[in-house]
Amino acid sequence: MDVITGKDMMRETVMKARESGLSVGLVPTMGFFHEGHLELMMRAAAENDVVVVSLFVNPTQFVEGEDFEDYPRDLERDLEMAAGAGVDYVFHPPVSEMYPPGVRTSVTVEELSDVMCGSFRPGHFTGVATVVAKLFNIVPAHRAYFGRKDAQQLAVIRRMATDLDFEVEVVGVPTVREEDGLAMSSRNTYLDAEQRAAATAISRALNAASAMIDEGERDAETVKAAVRRVVDAEPLARLEYVEICDNIFLRPLRVLQGEVLIALAARVGRARLIDNMTFEI
Ligand code: PAJ
Repeated sequence: MDVITGKDMMRETVMKARESGLSVGLVPTMGFFHEGHLELMMRAAAENDVVVVSLFVNPTQFVEGEDFEDYPRDLERDLEMAAGAGVDYVFHPPVSEMYPPGVRTSVTVEELSDVMCGSFRPGHFTGVATVVAKLFNIVPAHRAYFGRKDAQQLAVIRRMATDLDFEVEVVGVPTVREEDGLAMSSRNTYLDAEQRAAATAISRALNAASAMIDEGERDAETVKAAVRRVVDAEPLARLEYVEICDNIFLRPLRVLQGEVLIALAARVGRARLIDNMTFEI
């Protein structure tokens, strides 16, 4: 496995692979790998000849006052894990390589970026869409892999790739969870033992919603109220939002119908945790 820090070298390497007939999969990440990241890498390795993982803690997607400075980092461990998952290249640029002085361009996906997490993190999805657009150009892959755990991010990236005519196929990978249901996240390391136990309220709330839907409930307000009840019953968890919307344009639904996304964010200690489930109704 090679580590590449320069854009030109990265693009050349991928172009050479493509020219010799190899398929290329890209897995964009911010590092501090867990089994969720590894799942994306292994899926990419199963479906492509060459796998590139980008490892870049992207400053522009962190909103003022967020955890950019102390976002967890462990390069040595990450490189070992990536090699074990069948990764061929890790693209690990310094900030100056991605954002040299003079940059004036960003990519905003209208409407989808303003709701849910976007309303609590203004500018976040512009940071994400911009860096992913850049990565799609630097690593001209056949397929790019993203976790469904970040459902809004996935919707924003799909929209961006379609609207800007990127050739890459965007692949969504199911959420990997801890045994007790908590969605794996680099930010779970912020939780102490008590908070870690409280954090299960998030997936429990989604399971409660899922059970109601299985029993035939179709009213969005009723399902949201059930989610709120479960999270509110956990004193260490504070619900930021729960939303039920379509999974393409992320428009709120009153009645559950079609491809439905139930998404929520909650604060537990200093961690802001998100989770979601999708339903085909
Ligand atoms: P990061 O949080 O490192 O996540 C990298 C990828 O792993 C994302 O596609 C995310 O959805 C996926 N992922 C995280 N936890 C997962 C889980 N439990 N199960 C399945 N997939 C999971 O998301 C980002 O980085 C950044 O915003 C990025 C897209 C790299 C742009 O900077």
